[in-house]
Amino acid sequence: MHKPIIAIDGPAGAGKSTVAKGVADRLGYLYIDTGAMYRAIAWKVLQAGIAVSDAKSVVALAMRTRIRLSIVDGEQHVFADGEDVSRQIRSPEATRAASPVSAIPGVRKRLVELQREMAEEGGVVMEGRDIGTVVFPNAQVKIFLTASAEQRAERRVKQMREMGLEADIKQIAAEMRDRDLRDSSRADAPLTQAPDAILVDTDHMTVDQVIDAIVAVYNRAEAAEEA
Ligand code: DC
Repeated sequence: MHKPIIAIDGPAGAGKSTVAKGVADRLGYLYIDTGAMYRAIAWKVLQAGIAVSDAKSVVALAMRTRIRLSIVDGEQHVFADGEDVSRQIRSPEATRAASPVSAIPGVRKRLVELQREMAEEGGVVMEGRDIGTVVFPNAQVKIFLTASAEQRAERRVKQMREMGLEADIKQIAAEMRDRDLRDSSRADAPLTQAPDAILVDTDHMTVDQVIDAIVAVYNRAEAAEEA
């Protein structure tokens, strides 16, 4: 039988990565960070000196770039044409470019195809913006993770500082707002909660509590499937 797919969507800084990784570890599932894939294309676009507004060139670049996710020392790393770009894709420039790049339909088409291939065997926890709505509308478990704007900005700043990157909370909060607005209002696969997704507001929850809640949803779905 095909192993389940757990889709976790939500805005930036809602804690998707930490939580998705935690759920994947608990279940022995594969964790897939789709945001990292959009970021990797954005990084290649910047490196190539292509304007993010030049959709045709961006799509052509996306089509010829090989994106791979691999575990290195227990952490998921992103490779673009064989180069480990895991750190570069978290830079403010790549973060800023990822949003307009991800709004280009040709880029989405290419990465969605890749995401579906990666999850062919099932047994994955995939996080992003459109996993439960577009990539896997039939995912067995769909979670929409959210938190207040303040919490989300604080978390992103902490994450960046841990990576040794400079971060100013006011600037991060403003950029996050812009990005969420753009990600939610784009024509192709906007960030939106699937009608059958379970909303989890993580504001007053610890990471472990959120993971427990998602694993409980998963266990219920499994039990219902067997009944
Ligand atoms: O989750 P993140 O911040 O790493 O995502 C980077 C950008 O990619 C963000 O602007 C939204 C976009 N994205 C998307 O459009 N679809 C996804 N499935 C994942 C990310």
